Amino acid sequence: MTSFVAATGREGAPWGWTDEHRRLQVAVVGASGAVGEELLALLLAAGHPVDGLDLLARRYGKLEIGPERTKLSLRPLESLSTANDLPGCDLAFLCTPSEVSRVLGPTLAEAGIRVIDLSSALRMRSDVPLIVPEINGDELRARPRLIANPNCTTAIAALPLSVIQRLARLEEVIVVSYQAASGAGAAGLSTLAAEAREDAGLPRASTAASPFAARLSRNVIPAIAEVDEQGISGEEQKISEELRKILRLPKLLVESTTARVPVERCHSVAVHLRVRGELDPARVRAALREAPGIRLDEDPHGPRPLESARTDAVHVGRIRAGSRGPGSLCFFAVGDQIRKGAALNALQIAAALPAER
Ligand SMILES: NC(=O)c1ccc[n+]([C@@H]2O[C@H](COP(=O)([O-])OP(=O)(O)OC[C@H]3O[C@@H](n4cnc5c(N)ncnc54)[C@H](OP(=O)(O)O)[C@@H]3O)[C@@H](O)[C@H]2O)c1
Repeated sequence: MTSFVAATGREGAPWGWTDEHRRLQVAVVGASGAVGEELLALLLAAGHPVDGLDLLARRYGKLEIGPERTKLSLRPLESLSTANDLPGCDLAFLCTPSEVSRVLGPTLAEAGIRVIDLSSALRMRSDVPLIVPEINGDELRARPRLIANPNCTTAIAALPLSVIQRLARLEEVIVVSYQAASGAGAAGLSTLAAEAREDAGLPRASTAASPFAARLSRNVIPAIAEVDEQGISGEEQKISEELRKILRLPKLLVESTTARVPVERCHSVAVHLRVRGELDPARVRAALREAPGIRLDEDPHGPRPLESARTDAVHVGRIRAGSRGPGSLCFFAVGDQIRKGAALNALQIAAALPAER
């Protein structure tokens, strides 16, 4: 385990969230979304005091968070271009759409607030570190003010790939994803639930506009986000660029197909890779067993999203030699994308930084 990620449940400091971190004034912008609510639940579970939290979205409202249904108030963010909305704030998590984060992130950072942005707006900026603490947490030593959290599918694939990269140099990676409805936020989840109710002959019970390109219930949609003139989807572009940045392998060959599946939570990835030289599956299994943030799954029919939901680890299984030479290998990985792909990873980033006020 590196020193950049603390173990879940470590006494007194779950996810590395210490008394010093609990003294910080923390803003969660986009607190009413799928990621924002999860992050609030993690902060409360880590012992962060309610009066040290400031929750913002587009509107006033009340949230009930976590198993104890802790009541929290939500207020609207007035302006994207000044830090006046967040007086006394030490740390801001932006769980907002990219167009919001693009303006708000740099504004808050310039005002001296530490910002962890969960959108895609700033991830590829050369002056913004893109962090999975178990992989490249060493980049936090420079104490950056503005930090990006990766794309959810990328984070889940990157963790096992980083372990393999330590054994032998990665040359080629092919990723096929099976992405949950909640990857499209609260609207994705309510759309799938409404369609499933319709399929069961019940009233739809949601009027929210679907974020999907087609009906998702009983379906598979083989592209996520916009598709460009070369036929590559926005999600596929992010996986290639972000994997290269996080793994610090600018020439890594990455090819992917991203699909939306009618699963509530957890993204799955089938990964086929090739390293320079040889790769022994038994060695890979042994390295993954010891790696922080990873749980090895020996079930020949696992890991699966249903059983992996609401867990912290990236679950890795179906590890086997590939047929494209002695350096080729295949595996299947599943992670709760709202946790390790978003809220948990962001909390781990903040926990790995000094609790500066
Ligand atoms: N869902 C995932 O699995 C996942 C994983 C990794 C990264 N991400 C990224 O994380 C971000 C949040 O995703 P999500 O899934 O939580 O989306 P979501 O469920 O749609 O929530 C979006 C949140 O942003 C708020 N918001 C929108 N415009 C705003 C504005 N102008 N000012 C203040 N707040 C505003 C919304 O507030 P209202 O409720 O008031 O509209 C809501 O709280 C996105 O950038 C997404 O790409 C998501």
